[in-house]
Amino acid sequence: MRFQSTCLLLAILELCFAQMHYGGPVSRDVMCGISKGCYHDCSGNSCTFLITWITISDRVDFTLSYDLQESYPQWIALGLSRDVKMGSDSVIECVILDADGTNSDVFLSYNADTGKSNFRNDNPKIGIISSSSSIVDGIFTCSISRNISINDPKVFNLNDDYYLLFANGRMSGGLKMPHSKDPLPGASPKKVDFQTKVDLSRNEKFPLVKAHGCLMVFAWVFAASIGIVLARYYKLEWPGKTVCKEKVWFQFHRVLMVIAFACVVAAFIIIFIDVMGWSYLEGSTMFQRAHPILGVIVTALAVINPILALLRPHRGTRTREIFSWSHWFIGTVAHILSVLTMIIGVTLSRASTPLYAVWILIAYAVYQFLIELILEIQECTLFRRGKPSAYRNNSSAEKYRQPWETQKGNLLRRILLGVHVIIITAFTVVLIVIIAIH
Ligand SMILES: *[C@@H]1O[C@H](CO)[C@@H](O)[C@H](O)[C@H]1NC(C)=O
Repeated sequence: MRFQSTCLLLAILELCFAQMHYGGPVSRDVMCGISKGCYHDCSGNSCTFLITWITISDRVDFTLSYDLQESYPQWIALGLSRDVKMGSDSVIECVILDADGTNSDVFLSYNADTGKSNFRNDNPKIGIISSSSSIVDGIFTCSISRNISINDPKVFNLNDDYYLLFANGRMSGGLKMPHSKDPLPGASPKKVDFQTKVDLSRNEKFPLVKAHGCLMVFAWVFAASIGIVLARYYKLEWPGKTVCKEKVWFQFHRVLMVIAFACVVAAFIIIFIDVMGWSYLEGSTMFQRAHPILGVIVTALAVINPILALLRPHRGTRTREIFSWSHWFIGTVAHILSVLTMIIGVTLSRASTPLYAVWILIAYAVYQFLIELILEIQECTLFRRGKPSAYRNNSSAEKYRQPWETQKGNLLRRILLGVHVIIITAFTVVLIVIIAIH
């Protein structure tokens, strides 16, 4: 009796233990990057998925391993993509057909050109030389030997390079359900050449790209946003006061813009070092390919403007007016283009930044527009006879100003500046943290 209960206890314990270990992590293949190519999401030695490949004469042998985590029937698939998105991709899929996992199979399929659906090829085994699959300790592994080239546009030639899309999802009634969205499948950080033995992680980080992004955010979202507002709306604040022999607004404007300039130049150099020349952003959308072009324009403007400022003519001359206008115009164009460039930048796969960063940048742009609008309106109300062009002509603006304002400055305006600095700092910190930690 005692023996039997001990056995029962052991059996229960074993069951619990087995349950705990169901879906144990896939372990990293030590031969990755040495005798085979690999793409995975390993951290340390444990992965949720691992894809390996070896090219042998006119075929490529793939293995796909995935930690099932849950027991219901699932599918896993490797998509070969010419861009980084789902759509027009040649797919190798491994499916578990029943709940206990005794039945599984391998097919070739194709992601529709419109992107949202996947269809088995008319003859879903043509191009597969051999295949096998198994589930051991909750890890689903399938091996497929595929012809490098067959005469079917939906079965891509494996001599070409592709982005890899790994996806998984549930099966229901023998059919694949849409892929799981947490995490989203995402593409490999670069194209893969199946004739090479790379060891590529989906989580690969590009620290220089991150540094580039953080510097640009600091330059434009922080330094330029405050520096530009000072020059545009605070020329008449702090009358008579100076910092190091210069007007207060001018001193802070100059310091902030020099910081912005230095960050932009550093970020520009860093990204050229990272891509070793010009980035064509292969496989990206037209919109994304505009990033390097816009980046060069923005950087050029960011270099021209301080040079112009160094050469500024004397106050009160005709050329001074031309300078003021050009300085304002170049600064404004650069600032607007920089926001657009950053919005595109965070969508680039090498930035590996979550897409909600786009919304934060848009919120920042809306905020910056609103604060300038508020300051503009307030400036109008400050001057009795309509709004003088404070930027273009300081002396006339001073004439329009009420004597008491000239003496004390304007409290509301200073509070607005304080609020602006706080909000801008918050935007900057949030964006830099998001870029840095992902
Ligand atoms: C694929 O390769 C195998 C073995 O090399 C060959 O027998 C088969 O005919 C090839 N299939 C196609 C469709 O080319």
